[in-house]
Amino acid sequence: MTIVSPSMLSADFSKLGGELVRVEKAGADWAHLDVMDGEFVPNITFGPPVIKAIRKCSDIVFDAHLMIEDPIRYIDPFADAGCDMITVHCEARGDIHGAIAKIKGKGLKAGISVNPETDVTKLEEYLPEVDLALVMTVHPGFGGQSFIADCVPKISWVKEWAKKNGRDILVSVDGGINGETSKVCVEAGVDVLVAGSYLFKMKDMAPAIAEWQRY
Ligand code: DX5
Ligand code: ZN
Repeated sequence: MTIVSPSMLSADFSKLGGELVRVEKAGADWAHLDVMDGEFVPNITFGPPVIKAIRKCSDIVFDAHLMIEDPIRYIDPFADAGCDMITVHCEARGDIHGAIAKIKGKGLKAGISVNPETDVTKLEEYLPEVDLALVMTVHPGFGGQSFIADCVPKISWVKEWAKKNGRDILVSVDGGINGETSKVCVEAGVDVLVAGSYLFKMKDMAPAIAEWQRY
């Protein structure tokens, strides 16, 4: 069964709590929260106070994707806001091993993410420490971009690494996921589909989520 994590970046921010309930009622497994700092990526979204506020609306798993520099500075506030899992980027400035240790020290699941232009082998030093690897299939910063198919082999590379090293690591894919690209990623062995614009433009996202979960 594939895990489905709708990206709240495509939600209507004027009613974010209601949008979260919509995602939960549609049967999603997780809610993907894209945090951007205007430095690591050329866009700014939201931070711990907003996450803390919407935490009250739902018990769904909060899958936070931190597209921020020096993430270790903010692990405590994101954990305290109610995130269940926190993913940081291998390209971010600062002590990334330390950030992962801090996430785990808070009792949360930790993830490491890789941008399209970064070689997947850059993940190798972090994989012994994480629960999830997030493969970006767009350049991070904005929703609604086209899927970069060249990144797909990274999914099978991580799955192979995990098998070889006896590690239980979920592989997630983020960016440009739709009815077609989801299949390509599932064939490559992906465990988690993150999708924003494709799901949120639907009046009812429940059937699409249910179909993906059956994969
Ligand atoms: C991009 C974010 C994604 C984004 C995906 O920087 O990390 O999670 O919301 O949006 P779509 O599915 O529209 O490409
Ligand atoms: Zn994301």
